[in-house]
Amino acid sequence: MKIFSGIQPSGTLHIGNYLGAIKNWVKLQQDNDCVFCIVDLHAITVAYDAKKMPQRIFELAVDLLACGISPQKSILFVQSDVKEHTELGWILSTITPLAELERMTQYKDKSGQHKENINAGLLCYPTLMAADILLYQTQAVPVGQDQKQHVELTRTIAHKFNNTFGETFVIPKPLIYNTGAKVMSLTDPTKKMSKSAGPDSYIALIDEPKIIAKKLAKAVTDPARKRIADKGHPEKCNIFTLHQLFSPAKQISKIDKDCQSAKIGCVGCKKILTKNIAQELAPFRAKRQELLVSPQTVKDILANGAKQAQNQASSMASKVKQVMGLGLSS
Ligand code: TYM
Repeated sequence: MKIFSGIQPSGTLHIGNYLGAIKNWVKLQQDNDCVFCIVDLHAITVAYDAKKMPQRIFELAVDLLACGISPQKSILFVQSDVKEHTELGWILSTITPLAELERMTQYKDKSGQHKENINAGLLCYPTLMAADILLYQTQAVPVGQDQKQHVELTRTIAHKFNNTFGETFVIPKPLIYNTGAKVMSLTDPTKKMSKSAGPDSYIALIDEPKIIAKKLAKAVTDPARKRIADKGHPEKCNIFTLHQLFSPAKQISKIDKDCQSAKIGCVGCKKILTKNIAQELAPFRAKRQELLVSPQTVKDILANGAKQAQNQASSMASKVKQVMGLGLSS
């Protein structure tokens, strides 16, 4: 199956990115044709520091490789290195109804958070994302729940294009797994985990075990459980949900029972979780250290990825221009 997905270079990765997307990418690359993209052009739709961007891109590449993305199995590249993304992004914006863009949840959220900088790029974000996906004849797009709406809009755009100009694009499907598709904030479990609510609200992949322990100690649990003697409701507790994502099955069912019968308190439960998260992330942290000292290797992987991506993207872009009667190609 042809797979495409992307991620923004917007700072450190958190366990939401890992569980909702990257962990699945690593599995999918074993027996699929995968293309993974560092979407720097999406990241500039909010205010950013141009001097810091190269390091952000580099560190995201390091992190993806340290998580297990393999350049032998997948194509890994930076979006702005393949100019067809912006070209097709523009083209698709001309067939996308404004109302569709205005109703996107992410646009509403981000324009609320960045009132001083509601730029047209923020609105057209999904048409660029559609271009990313459609350039590669993508069949499936592994993402977390928050990106589902954008992939659905991509399907609508692709259908419209095919109906207007003739069968051109493969219609992609969102690939969303039952577990980890929406990891919630540590400080407000009614909201998804994201960097915008500050470092206490998320666990970063680079967090040392001590930091993980500190953040989990402050994390919100079952609100109905005030004292250790109160019986807990694991199904209502974000910490228990995280256990389901990081702990072995036997331990999960023991914690479930012990919490309901007040045999274990929140402190004990969080200690076990800290250990399990730290253990799962230990190989990542070790590999990351190795890669950080070999910047040329990482840059070569991205350059080679861009070449391979460009090959695929340019033939699709030519086809699009040809069916639309654009340029000298037609
Ligand atoms: P981005 O960079 O915000 O997030 C990258 C991936 O992480 C997932 N994710 C989560 N999953 C579960 N729980 C959470 N709390 C959580 N937070 C983030 C996201 O769903 C995503 O899969 N627009 C995209 C990037 C993009 C893209 C694409 C994705 C650009 N072009 C084409 C797929 C295909 C974004 O901003 O992801």
